[in-house]
Amino acid sequence: MYVITGATGNTGSVVAKTLLAKGQSVRVIGRHADRLKYLSERGAEPFVCDLTDRDALTKAFTGARAVYAMIPPHVTSAEYRADQDRTTDSIAVAIEKSGVKFAVCLSSFGADKPDNTGPVAGLHYLEQRLNKIPSLNALYLRAGYFMENTLAQVGIIKQMGMAAGPLRPDLKLPMIATRDIGAAAAEDLLKLDFHGHQTRELLGQRDLTMAEAAAIIGDQLAKPDLPYVQAPNEQTRAAMIGMGMSSNFVDLVLEMAGALNSGHMVALEARSARNTTPTSYETFVKEEFVPLYYGKSAAA
Ligand SMILES: NC(=O)c1ccc[n+]([C@@H]2O[C@H](COP(=O)([O-])OP(=O)(O)OC[C@H]3O[C@@H](n4cnc5c(N)ncnc54)[C@H](OP(=O)(O)O)[C@@H]3O)[C@@H](O)[C@H]2O)c1
Repeated sequence: MYVITGATGNTGSVVAKTLLAKGQSVRVIGRHADRLKYLSERGAEPFVCDLTDRDALTKAFTGARAVYAMIPPHVTSAEYRADQDRTTDSIAVAIEKSGVKFAVCLSSFGADKPDNTGPVAGLHYLEQRLNKIPSLNALYLRAGYFMENTLAQVGIIKQMGMAAGPLRPDLKLPMIATRDIGAAAAEDLLKLDFHGHQTRELLGQRDLTMAEAAAIIGDQLAKPDLPYVQAPNEQTRAAMIGMGMSSNFVDLVLEMAGALNSGHMVALEARSARNTTPTSYETFVKEEFVPLYYGKSAAA
């Protein structure tokens, strides 16, 4: 039996659905039974708990062949890093107490660095904390920059007629669709061929700059030459706070953007078949960005 955290989220839902489609027995964790229903209808066992509830999580992990572990992002938290570490400590204790031997964990490129990487420092701590469990075989999926992050451009393009953000326009980024992370995690959970503590970078289909991403979006929205402009941090801060994010989380995002812009946060592996994944940004824009853009515009 596999246990999947974040089972209603971007990556966890794909992990759960993939394992269920392969006939595996799956326990799915979330905070609301109704949100887990579509997975229980496919044969999963729902387990409702908060990941910071160590006793409940220990019960959820008990009997598992392996777990998919991730830290949910709480973008409204006033103490984002402390919240991440509380979740990590709970996951670690639950693994220790339940005796689970294998974990595939969602991490990020940049998690090799202890600090100055914003929210990614929490994934560094996750890796370090789980590395202290001698009986655990852990595989850390160090994913690239989520293509889903660029969905925030829907509102920006509508309001400003351009794409904008804190990243340099010429910065090449490994951009990945979260569906590809879920598929890779499911593949590793089925194989369980890792031992000790290992990392696997997942770098998407190719590296892309934000300017190139904007051009792809522009092509598909019939807005040729859609520009991308690097916004001053204060403008990004105001926009993100306007979207409901906490000031503390925005500080961390801006720290991460600085780490990306300066090269502090970089992928360590050369691109290879193992760390390259299938979904192109063009496909992502067609299947996710464009429907969101027109869906919102129809509702407006
Ligand atoms: N954005 C990036 O570029 C990037 C890059 C690399 C790594 N990452 C990492 O990726 C992770 C996010 O992955 P994701 O996109 O798959 O997550 P996600 O879509 O945000 O899903 C998280 C799920 O966790 C559940 N959840 C939230 N709080 C919970 C709690 N306290 N207890 C139990 N369940 C809870 C939620 O489900 P319910 O509401 O149903 O409970 C939610 O569906 C983060 O750790 C982030 O740092 C992000």
